[in-house]
Amino acid sequence: MSSKFKNPRARFNFQGRTCSITGIGSYVPAKILANADLEKMVDTSDEWIVTRTGIKERRISAKDEFTSDMAAKAAHRAMKMAGVTASQIDLVIVATITPDMPFPATACVVQQKIGAKRAAAFDLEAACSGFIYGLEIGQQFIMSRTYDTVLVIGAEKLSSITDWQDRNTCVLFGDGSGAAILQNRENSHGLLTAVMGADGDKADLLFMPAGGSRCPATRESVDARLHFLRMSGKETFKNAVQAMCSAAQEALRRCELDITRIKCVIPHQANRRIIDAVGERLGATPEQMFVNLEKYGNTSAASVAIALDEAVAAGRIQRGDLILLVVFGAGLTWGAAIIEW
Ligand SMILES: CC(C)(COP(=O)(O)OP(=O)(O)OC[C@H]1O[C@@H](n2cnc3c(N)ncnc32)[C@H](O)[C@@H]1OP(=O)(O)O)[C@@H](O)C(=O)NCCC(=O)NCCS
Repeated sequence: MSSKFKNPRARFNFQGRTCSITGIGSYVPAKILANADLEKMVDTSDEWIVTRTGIKERRISAKDEFTSDMAAKAAHRAMKMAGVTASQIDLVIVATITPDMPFPATACVVQQKIGAKRAAAFDLEAACSGFIYGLEIGQQFIMSRTYDTVLVIGAEKLSSITDWQDRNTCVLFGDGSGAAILQNRENSHGLLTAVMGADGDKADLLFMPAGGSRCPATRESVDARLHFLRMSGKETFKNAVQAMCSAAQEALRRCELDITRIKCVIPHQANRRIIDAVGERLGATPEQMFVNLEKYGNTSAASVAIALDEAVAAGRIQRGDLILLVVFGAGLTWGAAIIEW
């Protein structure tokens, strides 16, 4: 292995295996909801949405298409790229805030749908930060030689918890999924480091009030529209920029890397203005930043996974390139990961 940067995992003579993404895949539903369609639903305009968010359209899954269906489709694509069969998968992790049902875990439904009979399966709830949380957790199993092949998926049907009467939120979100196969790859550093953080003091900035043990479903909770997500936009925005910058800087510091060494920055796709502010503060050039939110809006846990898949497909990332993933979400949660592709 080359030594053009520091691998923090190698401290203390650590003998664990490295963990690479050997396959990546994504899926978005066919149905497009454009800003012009939203103009007919709430008091908004294409101009307002584009200037304030950068989003032009988002995908909406069919009534009978669930988070697990989208997750399984992305998984199949990642498995194909990695050349992995279902029977090789040891663990399925699904990061989502829109599981098919509160229980069982959507990961179990996906395990069944892709036929990964040997695999353990669980869900992970870190909102929009879920994919990086999932990579870090999956990597622990590879590094420790507990498992050889881990499937990490970020999948969301956010349209099912969006209040289509609330213009403050309904213009922002969309549905989709992304998946990665994690394995040891000889002579590759793979996932160099992952920063994860949380701040429960700010849990009420972005949340869904009802449907859990605090407020089970009642006629009143439904009438009060408590089963939809709620957000304090301005506060969330400020926290997002701050947390994403410090997470990214911490990841770079750990690897003793300068931002100029990063080939592609893949930020959580929530708002174009957040992405631009983060890029500017990190000193990244616009060419380094990968943006696809104009097509999909914010797909929460699926967001960076879809973006990573599209960046790879577009030839923006080649084997050996360093990439920086940086995310932020409800919780609050945040994260950043540096990967040698
Ligand atoms: C939601 C967000 C786009 C709003 O942008 P903003 O510049 O902060 O806008 P403001 O909150 O100042 O609202 C400005 C006005 O636009 C209005 N407005 C809100 N949504 C609107 C919409 N879809 N169409 C038209 N007007 C809208 C507001 O009601 C407000 O009107 P008022 O001044 O009369 O009260 C922005 O705060 C944001 O992106 N926040 C972070 C969201 C996010 O990323 N969440 C997920 C994190 S993982």
